[in-house]
Amino acid sequence: MRLTCLVLVALVCVIVVESDKQPHIVLILAEDLGWNAVGWHNPDLKMPILNQLAADGVIFNQSYVQPTCTPSRSALFTGYYPFKIQRQHQFLLNLEADGLSLDLKILPEMLKDVGWNLGFCKEEYLPNQRGFDSFYGSLTSGTSFYSKQTSELGLGYDFRDNTGVVQESDTYLPSMLAERAVDIVMGHYKEYPLFLEFSMALPGKALEVPQEYEDLYSDIENDRTRTLYAKFSAMDNSIGRLVDALKTRGMWDDTLFIFTSDNGAAASISGSNWPLRGTIGTLFEGCTRIPTFFHGSMLKKTGYVNNELIHIVDLQKTIIELAGAKTESDIDGMDMWKTISKGEPSPRTEFVYNIDDNELSPGAAIRVGDYKLITGNPNLVYPLRLLNSSADWWNYGDDPITRIPNSPLPPPANVTYLFNIIDDPEERNNLAEVYPNKVEELRHRLDEYRENLVPPVDRIIDPAGNPVNFGGVWSPGWC
Ligand SMILES: *[C@@H]1O[C@H](CO)[C@@H](O)[C@H](O)[C@H]1NC(C)=O
Ligand SMILES: *[C@@H]1O[C@H](CO)[C@@H](O)[C@H](O)[C@H]1NC(C)=O
Ligand SMILES: *[C@@H]1O[C@H](CO)[C@@H](O)[C@H](O)[C@H]1NC(C)=O
Repeated sequence: MRLTCLVLVALVCVIVVESDKQPHIVLILAEDLGWNAVGWHNPDLKMPILNQLAADGVIFNQSYVQPTCTPSRSALFTGYYPFKIQRQHQFLLNLEADGLSLDLKILPEMLKDVGWNLGFCKEEYLPNQRGFDSFYGSLTSGTSFYSKQTSELGLGYDFRDNTGVVQESDTYLPSMLAERAVDIVMGHYKEYPLFLEFSMALPGKALEVPQEYEDLYSDIENDRTRTLYAKFSAMDNSIGRLVDALKTRGMWDDTLFIFTSDNGAAASISGSNWPLRGTIGTLFEGCTRIPTFFHGSMLKKTGYVNNELIHIVDLQKTIIELAGAKTESDIDGMDMWKTISKGEPSPRTEFVYNIDDNELSPGAAIRVGDYKLITGNPNLVYPLRLLNSSADWWNYGDDPITRIPNSPLPPPANVTYLFNIIDDPEERNNLAEVYPNKVEELRHRLDEYRENLVPPVDRIIDPAGNPVNFGGVWSPGWC
């Protein structure tokens, strides 16, 4: 079975009516963005627009997410750690009869008194019914950029405009999404604050990119490297179009622009997390530490790299409070605005990477201060995806993209790893035997978090959702 992730390309347009002083907020959620996939980490990339925005804003160098997309997006939209809301296990499979709990009020619903993405087996799970004014994109994951077909557990077409199916075309999906984002901005009355979540589908997993971007790297001989670099440049182009629209519309000076991702790259498939360790679905830094920056005239301190801790679970609270609305009192997210805007020390000194206590292969990790503890299986998508010790585990080698491993051994499934992330961001030196007390301290803290864990419901794969039952289109209406 391939590793795919529920990708919901959502465009959110939300109007907050209470005050006229709120900024426009544009949240870019890149998909499977490796540490090595941005110009400020990899100088070989042609990415002029993002490089300039990042340089003029604040780059967050210790910005964390969950190991896979469904948990990350759950944390983003709810402000809760996924292990508290039953979304800690892997990711939603296309035929899984489940979705983000309807009891949870999510970011767009809250701003509107304000997105999307988690499950589609019934209409109630769809973005339009959960606070988004509009939606344009795919409900499944791993959608091909040209055919818009998804083939996990069934083969079907998947591209919607709100609830309707978009007519088939061979236009590049990421370009169509960027065009819609531009249209939303151009049609927006600029006096009302806009909240736009742009899940741009890039870099993603499909090794597909228009030739014009490949041509930028005609000097690169390795086909895979060239295609990947080209996708990163296509991402830059999408951002450029959106920023131009915001400028044309006279909204840019009042826009807080946030650039982040759901998780790191699937190293052996499409992308590179070098020099960080690990691939998508793992508890390692390569999958969970994500290139992130903020840009906007409302930031008081800019043009620097901020090394304070920030986590995707914090964005919901930060955005909602900035918009003048209120969040639930028991959420895990923290208001990071003073850290983002003024560079004050982060209120966050620890976070949970995830806790997935499933019977087959449990795994969990926590960071407290400079230290990180990983227990159990660091590969949280076992056995859907087996790590390939040659490309997924260390991801090292001579070429930043086609790294060859220095570990010929299969990855162990029950580890106790203690790393000092500040001294050893590449997680090469396991200190568990050197500092057993530190191990116990972090294990204890993890157990404290565990007290609030709610086990996920059993995964039910329902063939009723197969697109053959819906005219070849992935659709709701089967749970
Ligand atoms: C692991 O990667 C190597 C080299 O890329 C490849 O030959 C092999 O088929 C892969 N194994 C698995 C299980 O994916
Ligand atoms: C993993 O190893 C620890 C000891 O390091 C042990 O207590 C635990 O039972 C093991 N778990 C599994 C699932 O094998
Ligand atoms: C960002 O983090 C990396 C990895 O920890 C570190 O090597 C680098 O010095 C940091 N960059 C800055 C500018 O602080």
